[in-house]
Amino acid sequence: MPILESNGKQISYVTGSGGIREGLRTLVFIHGSGGSRFHWNYQRQFFEKSSNVVMVDLPGHGEAGSEGEDSVEGYARHLLHLLRALPGDVFCLFGHSLGGAIVQEFTLLYPQYVEALFLVGTGVRLRVLPKIFEGIQERFEETVRLICDYAFSKKTSADLIQKGVEAMLNTRPTVLSGDFAACNRFDIMDRVGTIEVPTLVVCGGDDLLTPPKYAHFLAEKIEGARLEIIDGAGHMVMIEKPNEFNRSVMEFLETLTERTTTG
Ligand code: COA
Repeated sequence: MPILESNGKQISYVTGSGGIREGLRTLVFIHGSGGSRFHWNYQRQFFEKSSNVVMVDLPGHGEAGSEGEDSVEGYARHLLHLLRALPGDVFCLFGHSLGGAIVQEFTLLYPQYVEALFLVGTGVRLRVLPKIFEGIQERFEETVRLICDYAFSKKTSADLIQKGVEAMLNTRPTVLSGDFAACNRFDIMDRVGTIEVPTLVVCGGDDLLTPPKYAHFLAEKIEGARLEIIDGAGHMVMIEKPNEFNRSVMEFLETLTERTTTG
């Protein structure tokens, strides 16, 4: 998988099996705190047929070595570096949780690159529970389990939750701590209303980390945004209810095509 050097750190990505094909829309997926490109496996399989897909590992995550960042702006700069290296001028940006903060900030800074935004389990402000924030350094494994308890719906299988725990334990504590510091500082409550790109907001009905209240707020503030609350899913909605999630996204992508073709 390509690994790019970016401001002294690394950012990497995988595409779908067809690579990046001319004439197709490009969907770029950004994971959340302690995550990696694997969080979007179901979306990769589903959307690679009809679109170009790019699943990102942020600095310090997955295959991208180096340290991470401790600010959303820092990660947004790496995203800019990555998009400039890809073919194409505009992109559909998907961001989950911290990734959602990154794509919002990116859109405020560089709207010319953004065809549409897909904000998944995220919000305009992402304050972090002190017991999560403080526990990462001192009781890493226990805290990762706690985060995953909050991150999945009680209706989700124990097997899937355990996979989530194992995946997050692969992230170094310093990187995870930086991610949560970035979330904790993030606050665009006063600026979100200036986002002007077509936006789909998706949230699991049982999301405890970024509750549906955050999604409603986003959808109210971003003009014309569509809101989907998916029942029976928590914060990891795209993994917990992939079929429902992919259907919502596909329907929204079709509205973009209609906008383009009807001028
Ligand atoms: N969208 C809309 N409203 C928001 C918001 C968002 N993204 N973030 C905060 N608010 C609201 C809160 O609901 C609250 O409203 P209220 O006064 O009507 O109850 C108000 O703004 C202040 O909230 P907040 O800034 O979060 O501070 P707090 O001291 O009330 O709570 C926490 C702090 C950590 C307890 C709380 O943010 C929380 O439970 N977070 C979710 C758990 C978590 O750690 N998530 C990780 C995110 S990555």
